[in-house]
Amino acid sequence: MQRTAIVTGGTRGIGAAIAIALRDAKFKVGVNYCGNEEAARRFCDETGIPGFRWDVSDYAACAEGLKQATEALGPVDVLVNNAGITRDAMFHKMTPEQWNAVIGTNLTGVFNMCRLVWDGMRERGFGRIVNISSINGQKGQVGQVNYSAAKAGDIGLTKALAQEGARKGITVNAICPGYIGTEMVASIPAEVLERQILPQIPVGRLGTPEEIGRAVVFLAAEEAGYMTGATLSINGGQYFA
Ligand code: CAA
Repeated sequence: MQRTAIVTGGTRGIGAAIAIALRDAKFKVGVNYCGNEEAARRFCDETGIPGFRWDVSDYAACAEGLKQATEALGPVDVLVNNAGITRDAMFHKMTPEQWNAVIGTNLTGVFNMCRLVWDGMRERGFGRIVNISSINGQKGQVGQVNYSAAKAGDIGLTKALAQEGARKGITVNAICPGYIGTEMVASIPAEVLERQILPQIPVGRLGTPEEIGRAVVFLAAEEAGYMTGATLSINGGQYFA
């Protein structure tokens, strides 16, 4: 039976690699995107994967977007909450806008999406939810009080929701990528990346988006039904949680 998967933030970076990995594993895949229309069009043209635009931080927009996606693809069996933003600043410079933007997308966005697919998954007795958290939700990171709080929140949400879904055939797991070679990491000042971050990674390099895609395919499988509430660290040995 072909399962339908939705990947939020799925046209660039880690999300794009996840969408392609799921498609190659024979899932019927749709991607959500919000900001970058041009990158989305390019991704969808190149891959043939349909894209749907909405802002995950807006509950009503999620409801409308998911309606369109399910009309096109069928009910959502697999939800990958990957959409995320950074607004890095030292705490003494962090504004309420920077805090709210990151909590809104990276934590409330996960609530919105899970809440809207949850009833259907319960009714059908099957679901796979994979929340893309971060190493910085596990260990904290200078300059990322907002991001670390949201990503730690995603891990708590995962653990609580996993317990609620367990008897309904729904698994909920989190993946915590370390520093992966994406535009998000490229926006870190080069000196900070080279002097502070890379030396802390025992494997000695940034991760690749495909290395995260593999883990999502593993968790999305029918056979992964006994794995729930877990937090998978994929960080080149930078942090053992
Ligand atoms: N611990 C404590 N203090 C530190 C520090 C550390 N590790 N590193 C620097 N500081 C201090 C500095 O000494 C300085 O102190 P003073 O003001 O007293 O001199 C202070 O912090 C500010 O330093 P800067 O002048 O460098 O601050 P800035 O405002 O120019 O830049 C920043 C701050 C924007 C946070 C910048 O350092 C930065 O971008 N850091 C990278 C943050 C990061 O790792 N982001 C991850 C993005 S990728 C991602 O999020 C994906 C994922 O999931 C992994």
